[in-house]
Amino acid sequence: MHVVLVGPPGAGKGTQAQLIAARLQIPHVSTGDIFRENVSEMTELGRQAKIFMKAGDLVPDAITVAMVRDRLAKPDAHGGFILDGFPRTLVQAEQLQQTLAELDENLDVVLEMRTDEEELIRRLSGRRTCQGCGRIWHVHYDPTSVDSQCDECGFSLAQRDDDRPETIRRRMQVYREQTEPLVEFYAARGLLAVIDAVGTVDEVTLRAVQALKEALST
Ligand code: AP5
Repeated sequence: MHVVLVGPPGAGKGTQAQLIAARLQIPHVSTGDIFRENVSEMTELGRQAKIFMKAGDLVPDAITVAMVRDRLAKPDAHGGFILDGFPRTLVQAEQLQQTLAELDENLDVVLEMRTDEEELIRRLSGRRTCQGCGRIWHVHYDPTSVDSQCDECGFSLAQRDDDRPETIRRRMQVYREQTEPLVEFYAARGLLAVIDAVGTVDEVTLRAVQALKEALST
């Protein structure tokens, strides 16, 4: 199954993508995670991306599209994938169509996750990410049993650099201006499914899985 998750920062895309990918046995491809790995490994890609990420802006399309094209060409993505954080602009969406056509694949569904802005800010300000396995936690909504230590692998947790209040505001603005138009783009192509992303993680997973089943049966 070929799935795209769309939603504002903090909607829960990464959280749900990890769960759905494990359930469907398909790779979770997060452009944000790939950029962060490159930043921490101090690669050339990371050096270029860091400037934009720190400001809450999008990394230029040319860099991002080339990176995703390479990732989707890997053998593990041939049976399907869940894309989290890509596409984020109309140019990226058009390039994705082209990449998939070259690979002789199609998107099955684009899942839009809707949440109100106050909830997004609560989620982002309390988010912590495991430095070992990448599991996403929240200090109130999904706390670890030992403070700042991942229950799954024991590594320490960290707060993302771009989860500072002024960067969060910029990311929200960028989402409204550059990414929201994708909702119309995919609705016009009959690929859009919308879910309410407010509720517990389990409740949202149930809605997401139901929406994926419905999309496959139509
Ligand atoms: P990216 O990492 O993709 O960030 P984002 O889209 O802003 O989304 P987030 O990761 O902040 O939120 P999320 O929706 O995944 O929420 P999460 O599941 O973590 O991108 C970062 C940067 O990289 C961009 O700003 C840009 O610079 C660059 N970039 C990435 N892709 C790009 C592209 N395509 N083009 C150009 N540049 C790109 O959840 C948040 C918190 O809420 C967690 O603590 C979680 O535990 C909690 N939570 C989740 N679900 C629930 C729930 N149901 N109830 C309560 N708490 C919940």
